Amino acid sequence: MRTGLPLVELMKRTLIICYSRRGWNYANGSVVYLERGNTEIAAEYIARETGAEIFGIETVKPYSDDYTACTEEARAELRAGARPELRNYLSDISGYDNIVVAGPCWWGTYPCAVFSQLERLDFAGRKVFPLMTHEGSGMGRAAKDLAAVCRGAVIAPGLAVTGSAVANSRDMIAAWARKNLA
Ligand SMILES: Cc1cc2nc3c(=O)[nH]c(=O)nc-3n(C[C@H](O)[C@H](O)[C@H](O)COP(=O)(O)O)c2cc1C
Repeated sequence: MRTGLPLVELMKRTLIICYSRRGWNYANGSVVYLERGNTEIAAEYIARETGAEIFGIETVKPYSDDYTACTEEARAELRAGARPELRNYLSDISGYDNIVVAGPCWWGTYPCAVFSQLERLDFAGRKVFPLMTHEGSGMGRAAKDLAAVCRGAVIAPGLAVTGSAVANSRDMIAAWARKNLA
């Protein structure tokens, strides 16, 4: 059936807001050096599958490269409800239908830097999909925390991927993206 609308009008526009940290990290019971962050790789799979754009969150003060030091920084931030300063902020997401919030699980939720960005946006009318990479906690409190912070959003079913398995999970991540973001 012809609708008279050009195809581009029918396609959903997706933005991936992504935080990912390269450096020493925990994987499969040991500490390994990641040249690229696990979440960054997962976000790229989605972007290639759907044509989504990626906004990368960068903190002014980087988190430690050392795994243990980073876990301590992250825990202190979480306890303090910190909102670390970012290098750049998105101010308007009205051009997108879907927002994927992609980040690692840190102490059961996203790094505080992700909330520094999310709190500044108006999500009215947008669908928000959590994407979390982790080493055992799954989605943790991600969906609940997004619901509290993404003003006006509908929180849609998300995807939790084991970080150390991301590189071998391209087909699964791409299938999730096709099913949910099209
Ligand atoms: C500060 C910190 C805290 C973490 N806390 C958890 C956690 O609570 N649960 C979990 O399953 N994995 C935890 N991890 C492992 C990361 O979630 C996992 O390695 C993730 O894939 C890293 O993604 P990234 O490379 O994109 O930063 C933690 C890692 C770091 C560095």
